[in-house]
Amino acid sequence: MEHMEGLDVAGCTKCADLVESRSRIVNGVGPEDAEVVFVGEAPGANEDEQGEPFVGRSGTVLDDALRDVGLARADVRITNCVRCRPPENRDPTKEELANCRPYLEAELEAVDPEAVVTLGKVPSQHLLGRDVAVTSEAGSVETVTFGDAKLDVLVCVHPAATLYDRSQEETFASTIEKAATMAGTGESG
Ligand code: URA
Repeated sequence: MEHMEGLDVAGCTKCADLVESRSRIVNGVGPEDAEVVFVGEAPGANEDEQGEPFVGRSGTVLDDALRDVGLARADVRITNCVRCRPPENRDPTKEELANCRPYLEAELEAVDPEAVVTLGKVPSQHLLGRDVAVTSEAGSVETVTFGDAKLDVLVCVHPAATLYDRSQEETFASTIEKAATMAGTGESG
């Protein structure tokens, strides 16, 4: 695929705004045969600076939750719907999501995980192709076709939600536990 080498994207200029706002393209990290793939929305400032998804405060929440179920960050794959930081961290537009979609489709098809965990509303809606009430649907699994891949998608609240709403902590933790069980890995698997 144009702009893609292996699972990495390089030199993409499809989104005019994002070419301006990004410092770099932030590709997915983690094993190319991971049993669990976490999908976020788009890189923020920390990710844009360091070139890796979920390395800021949200990433710490994710890392801690993984550790609690016996998983390390290095055991899972972590990626985003959109690989370039939007200006002022606004939500990615429909067009940006569509532009970046083939890269995510190719990545998920190649990794072929047991579970795809969507972190927050944007990735949940992007993968499921419908409106999603993330708080009430967190922990639910839906099988979808995404590109050429058939995926079991586990809806999850965004890790940042636990930082401003303590009541989301339990929901987040139990969804991560479910991901570990689906993958047959970690202490719960
Ligand atoms: N939030 C996201 O959705 N993705 C990241 O990479 C970081 C924070």
